[in-house]
Amino acid sequence: MEKRNKRKIKITGSGFYVPDKILTNFDLEKIVNTSDEWIITRTGIRERRIASDKDATSDLAIEASRRTLEDAGLKVKDIDMIIMATSTPDTLFPSTACWIQKGLGADHIPAFDVSAGCTGFLYGMILAESLILSGTAKRILLAGAELLTKITNYKDRSTCVLFGDAAGAMVLEESDDESGMLSFYWRADGQLGELLYQPAGGTRIPPSIEALEKDLQYLAMKGNEVFKHAVKRMGEAALEALKSAGLKKEDIDYFIPHQANIRIIDATGRRLKVPKEKVYSNIDRYGNVSVASIPICLHELKQDGKLKKGDIIVMDAFGAGFTWAAVVYRW
Ligand code: UT7
Repeated sequence: MEKRNKRKIKITGSGFYVPDKILTNFDLEKIVNTSDEWIITRTGIRERRIASDKDATSDLAIEASRRTLEDAGLKVKDIDMIIMATSTPDTLFPSTACWIQKGLGADHIPAFDVSAGCTGFLYGMILAESLILSGTAKRILLAGAELLTKITNYKDRSTCVLFGDAAGAMVLEESDDESGMLSFYWRADGQLGELLYQPAGGTRIPPSIEALEKDLQYLAMKGNEVFKHAVKRMGEAALEALKSAGLKKEDIDYFIPHQANIRIIDATGRRLKVPKEKVYSNIDRYGNVSVASIPICLHELKQDGKLKKGDIIVMDAFGAGFTWAAVVYRW
């Protein structure tokens, strides 16, 4: 399944959007029985962004996409496919990608969603590589956005302190030089689906008064179980993807892990022996924003002027499903 291509795809534009409204740990102290100190030491999060009641996931993704197209110096007509990664779609159908297509005015180009929990953005990159290198698409807009706060139970202190709303995006096309995606690794384990899921709202438990009374519309997670699997699987994904690229841990210039918990990030960084300053993290500012975390991290690194041509970047994620994946990328 994993492969090392001579032909590569590369990121020709990136961008993100987060809502203005900030929810701090001190705000949460007033809502549930928690403390700023607990949240910082157990998760690394200080604050997160909250979308307005009026916003849907596509509204954030459309803004991130506009910024990404501008970054790439492109117009909407220059893209020929939209892939959207999300677990919090505007509607169960049509796909959120179609709502983005409408919002951008990108008429009639194929548009569809990828659902792979927090790993969705990397699944989208891997899919985009195949679609571009096979000639099916030339230039793909890949967006990843979540409005997790709309499915967060603010009575459950073990989950409500974690999540935020955000959107990130990239334009992907075939590389004309040495830079681009070198390898990937992706896996899933459906046996463990119920450790992190939204019980009601689909066909297993359709929306009903009874489901609402039991709070089944909210995200449910066995946090410490998820934690253990995340550390193990993110290490596996990064190492396997590096092997597939013919590279070693020591070759990593920047490690961009999914931002779920600073302790997961640090543990995975240690396992890969990446010096702390090369492990990118913004979880203190945004919390866990699921699929949006990796494109936001990458764009911030780029904006800060930290990335040099030739740098080896490893992007690595774990999420509901369970799913896990890594992408090795030469800048
Ligand atoms: O995005 C991809 C998937 N998601 C993740 O990767 C998340 C993975 N899991 C985690 O990040 C962590 O498991 C959490 C941050 C969710 C929880 O941290 P933990 O260290 O695993 O805590 P725990 O669930 O084992 O709970 C320890 C204690 C419990 O109290 P007792 O039973 O020891 O008295 C909890 O009730 O901490 C308590 N607790 C809290 N206390 C204050 C749980 N949440 C809170 C809270 N404030 N917000």
